[in-house]
Amino acid sequence: MCGIVGAINGGTVINDLLSGLHRVEYRGYDSAGVAILHNQEIARRRAEGKLNQLEELLFKAPLDGAAGIGHTRWATHGMPCVANAHPHATAQVAVVHNGIIENFKDIREQLTADGHVFESETDTEVIPHLITHYLAKGMSPEAAVQEAIEKLRGAYALGVLMRDDPDHLYAARKGSPLVLGKAEHGAYLASDSIALSEKASELIFLQEGDMAVLGRDQIEITDICHRKVKRKVATRTTTNAACDKNGYAHYMLKEIHEQPDAVEKTVQANANALYDSALDFSDLSRLTIVACGTSFYAASVAKYWFEKYADLPVETDIASEFRYRSPYMPQNGAALFISQSGETADTLAALRYAKDQEQKIISLVNVADSSIAREADYVFHTMAGTEIGVASTKAFTTQLTLLALIALQAGQQRGVLSHDKAMKLTQELDELPQAMKRLLTCDSDTRHVAQELERASNALFIGRNTSFPIAMEGALKLKEISYIHAEGFGAGELKHGPIALVEQDTPVISLLPKDSLYEKTLSNIYEVEARGAQIITVGPEPIDGFLHIDVDDIGEFCNPILYALPMQLLAYHTAVVRGTNVDQPRNLAKSVTVE
Ligand code: F6R
Repeated sequence: MCGIVGAINGGTVINDLLSGLHRVEYRGYDSAGVAILHNQEIARRRAEGKLNQLEELLFKAPLDGAAGIGHTRWATHGMPCVANAHPHATAQVAVVHNGIIENFKDIREQLTADGHVFESETDTEVIPHLITHYLAKGMSPEAAVQEAIEKLRGAYALGVLMRDDPDHLYAARKGSPLVLGKAEHGAYLASDSIALSEKASELIFLQEGDMAVLGRDQIEITDICHRKVKRKVATRTTTNAACDKNGYAHYMLKEIHEQPDAVEKTVQANANALYDSALDFSDLSRLTIVACGTSFYAASVAKYWFEKYADLPVETDIASEFRYRSPYMPQNGAALFISQSGETADTLAALRYAKDQEQKIISLVNVADSSIAREADYVFHTMAGTEIGVASTKAFTTQLTLLALIALQAGQQRGVLSHDKAMKLTQELDELPQAMKRLLTCDSDTRHVAQELERASNALFIGRNTSFPIAMEGALKLKEISYIHAEGFGAGELKHGPIALVEQDTPVISLLPKDSLYEKTLSNIYEVEARGAQIITVGPEPIDGFLHIDVDDIGEFCNPILYALPMQLLAYHTAVVRGTNVDQPRNLAKSVTVE
C-alpha cells in the first residue's frame, strides 16, 4: 500500500526521497508527493500517477532543502488526484501517513469550527491541522505531535515535517510499520526497510505506540507511555540485489526463477527450527488457518495435508470474514496465520480474535520483524527474501513448503505418519527444488498457451483435491496481472453452475496430475470440451486434441507446490503479450494494511 520516506541531513534530501520512493513503488500507488523545507517554508510537489510524473514536476520546479518527507499513495479516502496526494500540510506542518484514521470526520468537524480549512477528501489531512492547532496553543513541536496522535483512532505510520523546527523530523507508529535509519550524516524514516537500503547502515524498527524525534545525528524514541526508550538497532540486511531485476524483464519473472533456491532455504531453515520448537500438535482439538488472497490458497492446500497426513480437523477462512463472524473456537485449539508481509490488517485482526479465544497462535511470515510475527506464540519464517512483484510467487511456494513441513511434523506427533512414510514424503520435498529448476528451464508450453489466451475475456481453471486451490491461485494470478476475468473451481463442481459460462473456445485450464483422481478430472474435462471449451491440460500426459503444459509429477504430496509454477508462468506470459504492467498491476497494493 502507501509508501513513506523521510530524510534529514546536512545537504539536500530530494534525491534520497526520490530513490526511497522508487524502492517502495512495488507496494502499489496511484499518486505521489514530497514536502521539503525550502527557503524556510514548507514546499510541496505532488502528482497523480507514477513517480515519473512527480519527477517531471520537480524538473520544472526544483526543490532543495535538508529535511523532507515523501509518499506514494494508494487511494482509500478520495480519488487518486493531486488534492488528495500526500504530503498534506498547513503552512507550519506537513504529514505523510499510512493507515486509516477512523475518527477523522469528528476531528475535521471540530477543526473546521475552529476556522481550519481543508483541501482534500482524505482522512490524513486532519493530522497536520491537529498538530498546527496544538502548536498554536503554545506547545512544543514534540508535545504537539504527541497530543495530536493521542486524539487519533485507527492505524497510522506518520512522518512529520515542521516549518519552525528545521532540525528535526517526527515519526510515530500504531498499527502500521515504520522503520528509522541512521547513516553517518543523516537520519531517515520509511514504511519499509527496503526504502533505506541505499542509505542507512543501521535500522531501528519502531514498536507499537512509539514516537521518535529524528535529528541529523541522533534519534530519540519514546514509548506508548511517553518514556524514553532504546530500541534494538539492526544492521541492514536488505541488499541491493533484492531491488535489482538481475537481467530479467520483470521482478515477477526473477522471483518465479528464485523459487528453487527459496524453497531449499525454507526447508533448511525450518526443518530443525520446527523440531526444536515446543509446538505440539498431538492433543490439538482443531487447527484454524486464516489468511488473505494467495496466502489463503496456501492455507487451503494445507487443509488437505493436515487432514490426510495428521488426522487433524482443520477449518480455513479468509481473514476479512473470519474476524467479523464470531467463529466458535474450541478448547485446546490452535490458529495459524499466514502472511507474506506480516502486516495484512485483516489477518492481524483475526489473529487478535483467536488470541482472545485462547488459541495457540502460530504465524508463518516472510517479513521477519512484522506485526503478525511479533504477536504470535510460535513464528516460522518463509525464506523467500524480498518479494517485489505485487503478484505473489515465491512467497506462495515457500508458504506451501513450510506448511508441508509442519503437516509432516503434526502427522508424526499425532502418530498418524510412520517414520518411513514421513521420510518418503520428506524426500519429495527435498527433490522439489530440482524439479522446479527442470520446469523453469523450459517454459515454451506456457508461452505458447499465453498466445492463445491473449484475446480471451474469460478463463476457467479447474482441479481436484490439492489441485483445486492451485486452480484458484492460477485464476487469481491471471486476473491480477493480465486483467482477464478468471475463476478457479473444483472440477466436480462445474456442472453445478459454472459450466453455464462455457462458450465456444472458452479456455479451461485443467490441472491434471496423474494422481488418484486423474480419471474423475478427465471426465469433467470431457464435459466442458463437449460444450465447446478450449481445453488446456497441465500435467505429465498430453491428450490428443488439447493444448498442453507439461509438468513431470513429483508425487501426490508435493505436486501442488510444483504445479503453482506453470500457473505463475502462464499468467506472466499472458500479461506480457497483453502489454499490462506486470510488476505493478492496476489498483493493487503489495501490503494491505487497511481492512
Ligand atoms: C496475490 C497476492 C495477495 C496477497 C494477500 C495477502 O498475488 O499477493 O492476494 O497474498 O494480499 O498478503 P499477505 O500474504 O502479505 O498477508
